[in-house]
Amino acid sequence: MRTDIVHIGAGELTYEIRNIVNVGMKLQSLGVQVNWENIGDPIAKGEKIPDWMKEIVAEAANDDATYGYSPTKGVLATREFIAAETNAMGGTQISPEDIIFFNGLGDAISKVFGFLKRTARVIVPTPSYTTHSSAEAAHAGTHPVTYILDPNHFWYPDIEDIENHIKYNPAVAGILIINPDNPTGAVYPEEILRKIVELAEKNDLFIICDEVYQNITYNDTISTPLCKIIGDKVPALCMRGISKEMPWPGGRCGWIEVYNGHLDPMFEKYVNSILNAKMVEVCSTTLPQQVLPKIVGHPKYQGYLEERIRRYEKFSNIAYDILKDVKGLLVNRTNGAFYMSAAFHDGLLNHSQTLPIENDEVRKTIQELVSGPNVSLDKRFVYYLLASTGVCVVPLSSFATDLQGFRITLLERDEEIFTKIFKTIASGIDQYLHSS
Ligand SMILES: Cc1ncc(COP(=O)(O)O)c(C=O)c1O
Repeated sequence: MRTDIVHIGAGELTYEIRNIVNVGMKLQSLGVQVNWENIGDPIAKGEKIPDWMKEIVAEAANDDATYGYSPTKGVLATREFIAAETNAMGGTQISPEDIIFFNGLGDAISKVFGFLKRTARVIVPTPSYTTHSSAEAAHAGTHPVTYILDPNHFWYPDIEDIENHIKYNPAVAGILIINPDNPTGAVYPEEILRKIVELAEKNDLFIICDEVYQNITYNDTISTPLCKIIGDKVPALCMRGISKEMPWPGGRCGWIEVYNGHLDPMFEKYVNSILNAKMVEVCSTTLPQQVLPKIVGHPKYQGYLEERIRRYEKFSNIAYDILKDVKGLLVNRTNGAFYMSAAFHDGLLNHSQTLPIENDEVRKTIQELVSGPNVSLDKRFVYYLLASTGVCVVPLSSFATDLQGFRITLLERDEEIFTKIFKTIASGIDQYLHSS
């Protein structure tokens, strides 16, 4: 090329949750039976969509109107429905005009960070759901600015760490909260959220709060929505969607709610640029927006969701009870979403550890993969676990963290298989750590 065509942030875009699939597929073709525990897609793990929900979607598909464009911000009746739901929580009040629909939160995230001034930074958690941290880093063309989620304290945000980053890095303009969290499954106490809002107010920052798992909490935990505590002094963007809750990840439908959007002219201009970016694209897909109020408002919706939540609760406890006693591993019981992150104690992993792999070709493939440059120690563990046992998890270090460990989902529906997977991981870790 006569001129450099690569974006300054291109190197920051990684998504190991899907990268690992290539390795798993290769091993599968060599005869390994893979248990896919890497991706947060309930449908891929066999979640059954109830007939009443399918009937609503089928009826909408029979309506020609759902084949047309919708307003750029989204279907008005749906925005009215959502605004009423948010307002009923009794916190900050929004109008349908404060809501913008996107083709999934992935689309929202890339625009929210993509239209932020390059030199302005949003501090993101570490570990961090990669779509956020990669998009933020790519917009700045350098590594993300992160605050600690403390594995020794239930994976809660370290407020002092946030405070120090704000104090010593004047480029920080906003704070990202993911609550309930991916990849840790933590649900933050209201007190912590209030402290973050206070910090934002004191330092004239805005907040982005990803609440895509808002209604998926268990173990007697509830997740305080940002709208209830944001007050009227801090501008914020709250992200919600249908991918996880309905669940309809393939519908590619999510939205942002703008809180205190008129408080600060610069914030207002920024939100407008996000809206204009959507306008250039025309709008987001109409059909999922059209059916949202009918599905969420259906008399069977709450019961259906509740049944899934009780399963996540049960499985979070099975997973915790098996992994908590594994020597060298730091785990917390998850209270929301459907992920669990486990971190190895410092210094336990090395480049000689292995697990037995019977098939010669599979062994050779893995040996080649782990001999490449820059293979992190937890990726080595994850590859060996995959090749030796078929269990596919994601290295924790791929979630914008120096911690070494792995993230696994709680989505397997069969309790016997689920328990077996976690027991396999527990014994695999023990064997791996003692292999050299
Ligand atoms: C915290 C979080 N936000 C957003 C998303 C993406 O949602 P969507 O399917 O709406 O793009 C995910 C998907 O895993 C997620 O975990």
